[in-house]
Amino acid sequence: MNDFDWAAMADLLEREGEAHGPYVEQALEQLRHLTPRRILDIGSGPGVAACRLAAAFPLAEVTAVDGAAELLARAAERAERLGVRLRTEAAEFPEGLAGLEPADLVWTGQVVHHVGDQQDALDRLAGLLEPGGVLAVVEGGLPARWLPRDIGFGRPGLQDRLAAATAERFSRMRAELPGSVAVVEDWAGMLRTAGLTEVRSKTFLVDHPAPLAPDVRQSVRQMLQRQRTVLGELDADDLATIDRLLDPADPAGIDRRPDVFLLTAKTVHFGRRPAG
Ligand SMILES: C[S@@+](CC[C@H](N)C(=O)[O-])C[C@H]1O[C@@H](n2cnc3c(N)ncnc32)[C@H](O)[C@@H]1O
Repeated sequence: MNDFDWAAMADLLEREGEAHGPYVEQALEQLRHLTPRRILDIGSGPGVAACRLAAAFPLAEVTAVDGAAELLARAAERAERLGVRLRTEAAEFPEGLAGLEPADLVWTGQVVHHVGDQQDALDRLAGLLEPGGVLAVVEGGLPARWLPRDIGFGRPGLQDRLAAATAERFSRMRAELPGSVAVVEDWAGMLRTAGLTEVRSKTFLVDHPAPLAPDVRQSVRQMLQRQRTVLGELDADDLATIDRLLDPADPAGIDRRPDVFLLTAKTVHFGRRPAG
């Protein structure tokens, strides 16, 4: 695994997964016609999508797979709390994928970009499918937005600069991954290269208008807090603006201002393993 401390991000991942729930629900609508017996959620994290899969396909055996034992423990707790059946299995990607039982539906959300050789990862994921099985890969979409362009202090356009710094950090992260391979990130083309057919990409909106419910607002706070910690590119003025936004006592801060929203879009790439 790379240098992300995934276990320490458990809260953020779980809350973000909940805030982004609307896209998973819409994507699952696209899969309602399936009757999978076995489902894998590869890189499940704390199991938010895995539990939705388990609820949508109650007759299926759903397994959350991840490299972080702490996150799998959270996924199991979450499943118990929600009353859905979920198995967990620890595996490191990509090597550990070989040890998994094949499945009729393989879901993987925002994980492939954390593996050095993304085409190889997709080949291995496609290799986990039973004949006729479906792979759903969440990659791409649009960066989240949550602030107006002008927030009344600091230089307008903070959100764009956060997005630019995040994109820079992302490129650095990819270049530093073990076995990193540069590839044209044509996800549909990569699924076809992995031998899948009926490939299509569909983008789903996550739209939480202001005023935000407290849990979604908390997710925005955690995102901004993380960006404050990991983004080295921001200048002193922007850092001061972010510190003011993160001040719980400030009426113009993220916790109290009325105009915070959450808008993002997630693209899911679907492909099917030929039946015969
Ligand atoms: C960005 S999170 C995505 C969590 C969830 N799928 C979602 O969409 O919110 C990436 C997940 O992949 C797992 N992961 C990343 N790289 C991994 C690797 N090389 N081996 C095993 N797990 C890995 C992390 O532990 C984390 O739970």
